[in-house]
Amino acid sequence: MTSKIAILGSGEVGSTIAYSLILNPVAGEILLVDPKEDVRDAQVQDLSDATFHGDTSTQVRAGTHKEAGQCDIVVITAGAAQKKGESRTDLVGRNLKILGSAIEDMKPFREDTIILLVTNPVDILTYYAQKFSGLPKNQVLGSGTFLDSARLRGILAQKCGVAASSIDAYVLGEHGESQMVAWSHASIGGVPLERALPDAGIDKNAIAEDTKKKAAAIMESKGATAYGIGGVAASICKSIFFDQCNIRPISHYQDDLNVCLSMPVVIGRKGIVRQIPIELNDSERKEFEQSGKSLRKIIDDVEKEQSKE
Ligand code: LAC
Repeated sequence: MTSKIAILGSGEVGSTIAYSLILNPVAGEILLVDPKEDVRDAQVQDLSDATFHGDTSTQVRAGTHKEAGQCDIVVITAGAAQKKGESRTDLVGRNLKILGSAIEDMKPFREDTIILLVTNPVDILTYYAQKFSGLPKNQVLGSGTFLDSARLRGILAQKCGVAASSIDAYVLGEHGESQMVAWSHASIGGVPLERALPDAGIDKNAIAEDTKKKAAAIMESKGATAYGIGGVAASICKSIFFDQCNIRPISHYQDDLNVCLSMPVVIGRKGIVRQIPIELNDSERKEFEQSGKSLRKIIDDVEKEQSKE
């Protein structure tokens, strides 16, 4: 049986994820699913032209929601994109409706299908995708702060003159305003950051702020982000398909906070294989919990609105 990834939404983000999955082949077939048939078909044609790259033959074709529900992985990028000056959480009303109907259209799901949420606000939508789909919680995850953590490592790498791949540093919590950096765990080559580079003059607040604002800074000039999230989503698909058991900060359900948000987890073929219980210091723990509470507040508000309808 051919391994299949469905991508819902053939806009800039969906097509960039597809392109990353062609350059770095993971699945035999990529299905683009989008009610905007003209754009979808044009993206399929354009992406097909790129399939000469990889050393395996990844086929790209248009697909239906029903077919998506039978794929190994469904990557959801469908929804309104953030505009300049808008926060990710401003999109919640619009994108929740789109998510709800897309999930209904995909049902019934294959029992081992993994859903990867990319659409913003990703943490809120991951929470609802778990509810709407009825799939086990470990099979519904969101790209979360994996991208923010990659951004943080990139900024630190430049400041410290060390390869990003030799830096371990996590952004945790919401993929958005209330995110926080777990500085007490940051290390370079396994050595705590401050001990490894005592003279690097790292301004933690400024770096955390630059990391958080990076998407907005990119959008200011080009209107959207795509390559970063494209690479991150493709990398998550690879971890799942090849059961790589990489540790990544990914949005998933947290029992104690009753929301989805990012903490490091092991990712494999079953989705979230297990959490890696990172020990935060007191002020980081407070920031993290605050992030959870601000997400919970958004969900409570959504539920209040829905009960009025
Ligand atoms: C970003 C979008 C994916 O941070 O939220 O680039």
